[in-house]
Amino acid sequence: MILITGGLGYIGSHTVVKLLEQNKEIIILDNLYNSKIEVLDNIVKITNKKPKFYQTDLLDINGLEEIFQQNHIDCVIHFAGLKAVGESVAEPLKYFNNNITGTINLLITMQKYNCKKIIFSSSATVYGTAETMPLDENSPLGVTNPYGRTKLVIEEMLNDLYESDNEFGIVLLRYFNPIGAHKSGLIGENPNGIPNNLMPYICKVAKGELPQLNVFGNDYDTVDGTGVRDYIHVEDLAEGHVLSYNKIKSTKGIYTYNLGTGNGYSVLQVINAFERANNLKINYKIVDRRPGDVATVYADTNKAEDELGFKAIYGIEDMCRDSWNVHKIDS
Ligand SMILES: NC(=O)c1ccc[n+]([C@@H]2O[C@H](COP(=O)([O-])OP(=O)(O)OC[C@H]3O[C@@H](n4cnc5c(N)ncnc54)[C@H](O)[C@@H]3O)[C@@H](O)[C@H]2O)c1
Repeated sequence: MILITGGLGYIGSHTVVKLLEQNKEIIILDNLYNSKIEVLDNIVKITNKKPKFYQTDLLDINGLEEIFQQNHIDCVIHFAGLKAVGESVAEPLKYFNNNITGTINLLITMQKYNCKKIIFSSSATVYGTAETMPLDENSPLGVTNPYGRTKLVIEEMLNDLYESDNEFGIVLLRYFNPIGAHKSGLIGENPNGIPNNLMPYICKVAKGELPQLNVFGNDYDTVDGTGVRDYIHVEDLAEGHVLSYNKIKSTKGIYTYNLGTGNGYSVLQVINAFERANNLKINYKIVDRRPGDVATVYADTNKAEDELGFKAIYGIEDMCRDSWNVHKIDS
């Protein structure tokens, strides 16, 4: 059985759907801090299968132990974590406790129950301010905020764990910028309040919930002066987890992969793609650069392609169409 922590969240729910569609036996753990129980109903609607769900917090080690006692778990896909960069700067201890202590509890419990396979949600943020593009898995690491530090510390912990016990099979997946949603529109990303990320922000502007999109800087050394990022459809990302699971279910070792498309798009290119894909107009305004932002970030995806057989198939307009589809249905 595969335990999916954070399995009702944005990326977790899409991965759950893919695994259920392949008849994998899964269990979901989520404390519903950043998700809703309705996501479970929608997973059932999409797949016609009802996975076992535990509303458990990773900080509750006894609760975790119960799950491992009651089920034979041979692999964990570990999505659960807090992810808002700005909040992590304001409340670093909350992030260290939830993300790092939560992961330590998980690993202690896994070791106790002899579960030695884990796929971890890391992030391209571990490359810090690296400037040479594209980023491959050997690019220099560094962090610029407490959220990124939790990702780097957990990667290092997992490396140490593997050094101590070579029976482990571990995959560290460094995601670039996930957007898009399941084609049904039943699951997706719809954060409360003012979003940090471009696509949820664009959708709120399209919906009229926010008056305009602020574009942070148009004087970067890029195609049109706005920041360039590597956006990847969440369905492609979910597939990357299925491929990672297939790799480590029978292999030991620790492996790190970038999951991106290898293509960068500027903010203005994304706005244009969104307008084209959905036949809508987005109000935007150029404002000052945001401190800490770099001009361009995109992935070298060769390693994931060579070793996992991973290749993103969705383009930017697909991502924009599917992101908006969730909001259309929601409104
Ligand atoms: N979305 C992105 O842009 C992005 C980029 C890189 C990495 N990641 C990482 O991928 C993972 C999943 O991201 P997401 O976008 O799906 O986020 P999300 O917030 O939608 O999902 C995370 C889920 O984990 C749950 N959770 C958080 N803390 C928990 C705890 N202590 N115990 C139990 N459940 C807990 C939340 O309720 C939520 O459902 C996170 O670790 C995130 O840091 C996300």
